[in-house]
Amino acid sequence: MCGIVGCVLKENRDAAPILFRCISNLEYRGYDSVGLATFDNKINVKKAKGKIRDVNASLNLENMAGKYGIAHTRWASAGRPTDENAHPHLDEKGRVAVVHNGTLENYSKLKEKLIGEGHTFKSTTDTEVIPHLIEKHMDEGLDLEHALRKTVEMLKGSYAIVAMCEDEAGKIVATRKDSPLSLGFGKEGYFVASDTPAILEYARDVIRPREGEIAVLSKNGIEIHDENDKTIERKPSKITWTADMAKKEGYDYFMLKEINDQPLAVKNTLGQKNNMKRIINEIGDVKRVCFVACGTSYHASITGKYLIESLAGISCDVIIASEFKYSAKTWDEDTLVVFISQSGETADSMTALRQAKQTSHTLAIVNVAGSAMWEEADHVIQTQAGPEIGVAATKTYLGQLTAIYLLAAAISGNDKITEELENVPSYIEEVISKADEIKELSKRYNFVHNAFYLGRGFSYPIALEGALKLKEISYVHGEGYAAGELKHGPLALVDEDMPVIVIIPPGADYDKTLTNLEEVRARGASILAVGSEGNDDLKSKSKEMISINPKVTDIIAPLVYTVPLQLLAYYVTVEKGYNPDQPRNLAKVITV
Ligand code: G6P
Repeated sequence: MCGIVGCVLKENRDAAPILFRCISNLEYRGYDSVGLATFDNKINVKKAKGKIRDVNASLNLENMAGKYGIAHTRWASAGRPTDENAHPHLDEKGRVAVVHNGTLENYSKLKEKLIGEGHTFKSTTDTEVIPHLIEKHMDEGLDLEHALRKTVEMLKGSYAIVAMCEDEAGKIVATRKDSPLSLGFGKEGYFVASDTPAILEYARDVIRPREGEIAVLSKNGIEIHDENDKTIERKPSKITWTADMAKKEGYDYFMLKEINDQPLAVKNTLGQKNNMKRIINEIGDVKRVCFVACGTSYHASITGKYLIESLAGISCDVIIASEFKYSAKTWDEDTLVVFISQSGETADSMTALRQAKQTSHTLAIVNVAGSAMWEEADHVIQTQAGPEIGVAATKTYLGQLTAIYLLAAAISGNDKITEELENVPSYIEEVISKADEIKELSKRYNFVHNAFYLGRGFSYPIALEGALKLKEISYVHGEGYAAGELKHGPLALVDEDMPVIVIIPPGADYDKTLTNLEEVRARGASILAVGSEGNDDLKSKSKEMISINPKVTDIIAPLVYTVPLQLLAYYVTVEKGYNPDQPRNLAKVITV
């Protein structure tokens, strides 16, 4: 998710220092490019690839004349992080400046049409079509506000857009769909921002415009207009959060915020469906797949193996990146080697990628545009989770899983599974609505020193990931096992003091997993079942149960059943007094 700020000041002073300060408040997320546009008789733009501080050192962003303007920090998605791709983007004549947050699914078609009409483009972003469309509609006689309205009617995807035009000096217009936007009323002037923490220093009275509404900012105030041009009266809410709380959108920790971001991460990543199909078409006949990854990304890869083998019927391996070199020689040109990584920088995965490139097709599924793997793999898909701050991966994991389902669908030609995924964001929301229940439950587990997580088939990687989340943030020893494997050793450890978390969604493996549950129950283990709502038999056999919407069956369970386990690990950690965002000895990016 990119960062957007716009402001119109009441007094006769320059807006750039304020815009710069606001945008710097978003620096903690680690953006890759930054830019400002201000109006001083004409639109001036300064923008470049790089961190905010570095770009300011070279371009002196704080020193731009003009009483109003817009600013942007980019988290690259469509188009690599480069100077040209940094926002703001301009129209043909350089009179309209636009910053945008979100993803436009139909931009290629719009761009092609605009090029046919004589427009030229400087960047490879999706955003650049917006100023050109606004220009076109203004040339047809519309004012800025209505040109923006007509433009968004043509867009498919998610957006928060803030625009200004030389012909209508003193005005900024803004609108949104599936992307957040806040309007701020401050002493010095009027603000618009993708994230409230950006403007909190200047404005604490905030309105969140609804979809379909257009906000018009001027030095006299902010007007909000609905689709019929009717002015909307809405009272601002007073934000009492501290800047730190606001960065976390009011959540106690980034991890909890990021767990809550997951429905959107899945929804946005589903937008990569056509890109995935295009890549698989380009590669041609894939006879074998091999996933390579570390940590949480390795668990996503195991789900990938089960999906590809069951949907596409081709052989699929999963290798921990640091072990890849021992089998690298067995891969050939018919193999697609898929690298899964939230950071796109992990050293072991990078080494394996360079090796794999010598023999096979490579595809990187990463969350960070412009990262090392993004640059070096033959093909790349970006998960649309947005920046993740918590060290323990949550929303990037669900983004990876979503991309992997798209990969399996593209290789197998089976679109049914992607249709099913459309419902997943609402299933995740249902699980998140049970957070308080899981918080209460966590209090009954916070004394434990060990826990087993069991699952079969698609639930096996869920068990592994649930256990990893618990151990990495709460320092409780959690161990995930394939349910059938328990009797070959670990069962010896099971007694009344050992909680066993059994992941048991409805589906082909249900009965067998129930047998495994009975095995541990017979040894007196305290069982927490994660199963289907309304399953009274399961409930009666378990000490505790987390109930999930019964429509979620085994094949899509990894995207939903993982969420209560993230929440359980989170609440156990907080209950113990640890900081889940920064677990000891661990780092978000491992480049050694
Ligand atoms: C680190 C992170 C984990 C992540 C692993 C692999 O250990 O803390 O959350 O799963 O690296 O990282 P990658 O960026 O390649 O997914």
